[in-house]
Amino acid sequence: MSRPLSDFAHPQQQASTGQPPADEYWQSAPADELIPHILERYHRRHREQLPELIRLARRVEQVHGEHPQCPNGLADHLSDIHQALESHMSKEEQILFPMLLRGEHSLSRGPISVMRFEHEQHGQSLDQLYALTDRITTPLHACNTWQTLYRGLAEFCQDLTQHIQLENEVLFVGPAAGEML
Ligand SMILES: [Fe+2]
Ligand SMILES: [Fe+2]
Repeated sequence: MSRPLSDFAHPQQQASTGQPPADEYWQSAPADELIPHILERYHRRHREQLPELIRLARRVEQVHGEHPQCPNGLADHLSDIHQALESHMSKEEQILFPMLLRGEHSLSRGPISVMRFEHEQHGQSLDQLYALTDRITTPLHACNTWQTLYRGLAEFCQDLTQHIQLENEVLFVGPAAGEML
């Protein structure tokens, strides 16, 4: 029987400094360190970020719908992203990541190509988000809710971009996928 994902500790964050390791560390990390890092740093974080961003976007649209820079349609767009990401991350957590942890590298090729395709779709969703928000530009005299929303959006977009890069360029091609660097 294989171990559930939650059984994998995060050895680097238990180091005496308490500091997470630098980004370069993950380039050559094995699957049983890289995958818990992705789950904690990105999957868990997206699940915290998106419901709050959707709530803030609904408020901004309700209150400022007539403002020329109001991102009308943003809350629905974020809901679509939330659903698509949830389905994507669940597939990684239930199918692909356990395969990589068991070292089933040839079996993982099919799921990896599906995940890469979905990453491209997430990239297109981010492009639409940038178009809706004038590249996340806060208008002059924006209220606190609007400012908080755009700060959170900028952080979410950066996190999702890094998350996709780490999977595409490291997890799917490096030692975790059975390749020598
Ligand atoms: Fe992921
Ligand atoms: Fe992914």
